[in-house]
Amino acid sequence: MLIRKSRPGDSANIRPSEITPESVYLDRRRLLQAALAAGVAGLGGAWSEPAPAQAALLEFKRNTKYSLSEAPNSYEDITSYNNFYEFGVDKGAPAANSGRFKPQPWSVTVSGECENKGTFTLEDVLKDHPLEERVYRLRCVEAWSMIIPWVGVPLGEVLKRYKPTSKAKYVAFKTVMRPSEMTGQRYPVLEWPYVEGLRIDEAMHPLAILAVGLYGKSLPNQNGAPLRLITPWKYGFKGIKSIVEIRYTERQPPTSWNISAPHEYGFFANVNPSVDHPRWSQARERRIGRGLFDSRVPTLMFNGYEQEVASLYKGMDLKKFY
Ligand code: MTE
Repeated sequence: MLIRKSRPGDSANIRPSEITPESVYLDRRRLLQAALAAGVAGLGGAWSEPAPAQAALLEFKRNTKYSLSEAPNSYEDITSYNNFYEFGVDKGAPAANSGRFKPQPWSVTVSGECENKGTFTLEDVLKDHPLEERVYRLRCVEAWSMIIPWVGVPLGEVLKRYKPTSKAKYVAFKTVMRPSEMTGQRYPVLEWPYVEGLRIDEAMHPLAILAVGLYGKSLPNQNGAPLRLITPWKYGFKGIKSIVEIRYTERQPPTSWNISAPHEYGFFANVNPSVDHPRWSQARERRIGRGLFDSRVPTLMFNGYEQEVASLYKGMDLKKFY
């Protein structure tokens, strides 16, 4: 992200052959716990990238209905060109500075307008939800993009378990606050901790996921270990990393980039090639990892998910609600 004052930053049915045999899923919880604990190998991944030493292999099935058919960026691209200001503002800083961050054990507090409040272990948050691989394009508001094979669970399925009340109109998320491990939090680049939010119908949309891995392996620290949000029709900054709190609210919650520069970053942050950022065009994007001549491609409305999500914003002026 870039801010003026401190410049810190097809669909197809799943073929039976692609589904992991049922027996493999029977003891998912134990497997998941093992896989999320550092360094333990689980079951196979779909892509042939090498596993880095600390990443755990996850068990998942590929969701072809919600996956792009484009080839993903390399593991190297995805894990070395990041925005995670808690570890520094340069693209290489998160990979360089996040080694001391400990994503296990991890718990998430669920609060606000819901019946089942409490603090839950990550394993508990994920239990009963088979992991899926979804190949999405991450379109950053800075007008670059990458294709990423995430592994995660549908956000809406997780949210329903905590039984939101009729007053729950929004969902707010918060990143962990650990300045001892996240050196960027010692500097007032943003208001810490990083916060984000979605309207409840957006959060319940089947495209929204909570990711725990990429390329079939647990999330590297720089990509938001151990749990992050992915809303592929929105700019990447909505994808809050290292989530420790989920709160159901009646009012629209504050969001980090909107607090920082409200005229530049709105609450909705839907990818929209016809609404420019005040300082640059959003009509095109640069594909990270491509050659100079084929790297600039047109940006698609809602990042290509117009058919799926346009109805969420029916009647809204998208120039006003950017
Ligand atoms: N979450 C936190 N907590 N802190 C951040 O700085 N950056 C956001 C988002 N989530 C950010 C964050 C931005 S601007 C983008 S584009 C994506 O993470 C980048 O995700 P990636 O590094 O996995 O590509």
